[in-house]
Amino acid sequence: NRQISIAIDGPAAAGKSTVAKIVAEKLSYIYIDTGAMYRALTYKAIQQQASIEDEAALMEILNSTTIDLQPGTEGQLIYLDGQDVTNQIRSSEVTNSVSIVSRHKLVREEMVLRQQSFAQNGGVVMDGRDIGTHVLPLAEVKIFLLASVDERAIRRHTENVQKGFPSDLEKLKKEISLRDRLDSEREVAPLKKAEDAVEIDTTSLSIVQVVEKIMDLAYERI
Ligand code: C5P
Repeated sequence: NRQISIAIDGPAAAGKSTVAKIVAEKLSYIYIDTGAMYRALTYKAIQQQASIEDEAALMEILNSTTIDLQPGTEGQLIYLDGQDVTNQIRSSEVTNSVSIVSRHKLVREEMVLRQQSFAQNGGVVMDGRDIGTHVLPLAEVKIFLLASVDERAIRRHTENVQKGFPSDLEKLKKEISLRDRLDSEREVAPLKKAEDAVEIDTTSLSIVQVVEKIMDLAYERI
């Protein structure tokens, strides 16, 4: 069997990581959450009280930072300099700053190199914003996942409520729209469907249905 690469891009909270994890598990591939890498850097920058506008300061931090992704029993664990920050990087403070950090060209260049080295042997499902366009332009399967802002906010809200986190639906809608705008309008590697990506609108699809569509595309290439 060929070890292919599967790139899954799309806007915030479109369900990328949920389906990417399941697809990776079904194929016994590794799953790489590239958003978690930008989140980990953002978390460290906030901790160190660095300005997230300051590219040089961010690069100094990034160049002395290790970010590792490890499979855990309940999904992927994210280690920052050896410390488990899986939960910390999901805070609203990080979420609302990460799109400023990820705008910087040098930050992106370094992240892309790290992501490409994780994927060098194939057998990988990677999700993010620029995977099909920049990180893995030769990926055998490219997916662009979409869903309406309302649907994405409701899903995130339900998830928060289930986890017992405080959650405000209207605020979520605003935050998701803003992050989409920043990610789509930035100069370097903006969120954009790759020309050869297959678009899947998940608004009225179940997770199982989305996974099936991606698995069908994967099996055509394996
Ligand atoms: O996927 P997630 O929502 O965790 O990503 C967090 C943020 O990281 C995105 O809103 C975006 O600003 C940035 N990101 C990126 N490129 C990627 C993955 C994430 O710019 N490949």
